[in-house]
Amino acid sequence: MQTPDILIIGSGAAGLSLALRLAQQGQTSLVVSKGTLSGGSTLWAQGGISAVLDKDDSLEAHVQDTLATGAGLCDENVVRYTVERGPACIRWLIEQGVEFSADEDTAGSRRLHLTREAGHSHRRVVHAADATGRAVETTLASLVASNPRIVVREHCVAVDLILDRSPAGTGTVTGKCVRGVYLLDRNSGRVQAIPARAVVLATGGANMVYLYSSNPNGASGDGIAMAWRAGCRVANMEFMQFHPTCLFHKESRSFLISEALRGEGALLKLPNVAAPDDARFMLRFDPRAELAPRDIVARAIDHEMKRLGLDYVHLDIRHRPAEFVRSHFPSIHARCLELGLDITRQPVPVVPAAHYTCGGIVTDLNGRTDVDGLYAIGEVACTGLHGANRMASNSLLECLVFAESAAQDLKKTPPDRAPPGALRPWDESRVTDSDEDVVVSHNWQELRRFMWDYVGIVRTNKRLARARHRVDLLKREIQDYYGNYKIGSDLIELRNLVVISDLIVRSALSRRESRGLHYTLDYPQTLTEAKPTVLPGRA
Ligand code: FAD
Ligand code: SIN
Repeated sequence: MQTPDILIIGSGAAGLSLALRLAQQGQTSLVVSKGTLSGGSTLWAQGGISAVLDKDDSLEAHVQDTLATGAGLCDENVVRYTVERGPACIRWLIEQGVEFSADEDTAGSRRLHLTREAGHSHRRVVHAADATGRAVETTLASLVASNPRIVVREHCVAVDLILDRSPAGTGTVTGKCVRGVYLLDRNSGRVQAIPARAVVLATGGANMVYLYSSNPNGASGDGIAMAWRAGCRVANMEFMQFHPTCLFHKESRSFLISEALRGEGALLKLPNVAAPDDARFMLRFDPRAELAPRDIVARAIDHEMKRLGLDYVHLDIRHRPAEFVRSHFPSIHARCLELGLDITRQPVPVVPAAHYTCGGIVTDLNGRTDVDGLYAIGEVACTGLHGANRMASNSLLECLVFAESAAQDLKKTPPDRAPPGALRPWDESRVTDSDEDVVVSHNWQELRRFMWDYVGIVRTNKRLARARHRVDLLKREIQDYYGNYKIGSDLIELRNLVVISDLIVRSALSRRESRGLHYTLDYPQTLTEAKPTVLPGRA
């Protein structure tokens, strides 16, 4: 194949479905992943994908639930656009071969089984038992790997975008267009300039900025940082979502215990309470109790842990029949059993952990950014769907819907937009190997620790100011490193995480209210007018 038309950075639900959609409309693409093809958060998604498929449900109900969870900050137009396209995206996945859980209706016909999660007023979460992401990711990855219109490069890290002045008539906010990407091959250590007619960032979230996260390694916000350096606007970065229930275990601090358990009746309880009726605490915080939106549940758990000096709280599903629990949650049941915990007989110790980046690169309904020819789809983007708090299972939905929209828009990309061969090669003068890798790893730990301590579930101006001071120090240190030494993937990720921390802290400091996932003791009230936090890209 000649140089593919479109370069897709990232091979999660967003990147893979885009590559397949492009191939189905006759376009070629190069898909790059910094790990293996099926690495990324998608593989680990548990609960499912929200879409209106039940006759008693309605698009309007899905829209209203999303708006309510987003705490006044969702863009209603985007919410409607996404929700309306949900059912067709599920049908598309089924056509690709994804097998979702199904059961029989009263007339004996097979229908998709739907679960319920927090914030949803109906059962509308399509799933493959409790390993939905695995079913989606592995099916799409095998189709991509065998598609002649798609080239795959694994273990290659995008370092930075290659930009040019935008030709007259195609101007955007930045006046720039994208020409390609610098790509580090992790095996050879070489950086290549890869030309492309359009570049799509599908690099996922930035949740590794926190010490405890449900995400796999690699969620270091590379796409957001690259786009910001390229001049793109980045919005709503203060809204980092903490999932209420990650397993608390000395051998596993990041394994998620799906919200679908609470959807099927699991209760949150305080450990070591003599009378079982006194152990439940969520009703003291919200009438929706365990099914209140995530920000409320995570904050309630955090509050109880701090108030009582607890290391964890309990999630209890023992009152449901053991066979029901085993068949609905086979992966969670098996993983906990490996760690010596039988969830059909014991409550699970859980804690909140960083889970989802609601903010990101500002895009329009086609995934276009402020740089001509540069798109962003999936968790990396801020489309306006999630507002101040994402509703469960709306993320995979967004990946699928915006992959389709971007594919439609990319049909229009003029084939000669980027003249090949005119790219400036990577500056190879920085050939010195750093002998201080330990400094990089200490900086990583320091950053993730202070972000957890100062920019977590409950914030104050003072804690944010402390974090800002540390971010500034690290920024200088890392810039020095980056400028002088041969780069490796750890240094690239650390450099990006410092940008992410800076964007989060600046956004949090500028929001003088508490809303959705951003809660500060200095401004506990919610203002009447809801406004997004939009930071300009680097000039
Ligand atoms: P990802 O799937 O994260 O993929 C990112 C890709 O980008 C990877 O291939 C990575 O290698 C690549 N990449 C990143 N940086 C670079 C770089 N510099 N160079 C090259 N490649 C790069 N959402 C739901 O809707 N429902 C759920 O049930 C659900 N459960 C979840 C459970 C867990 C444990 C987690 C962590 C998340 C869950 N989420 C869920 C959220 C959802 O899974 C993610 O938001 C979604 O999968 C993101 O998809 P994506 O394609 O945007 O990115
Ligand atoms: C979960 O299964 O609890 C995760 C769902 C989500 O993040 O949307």
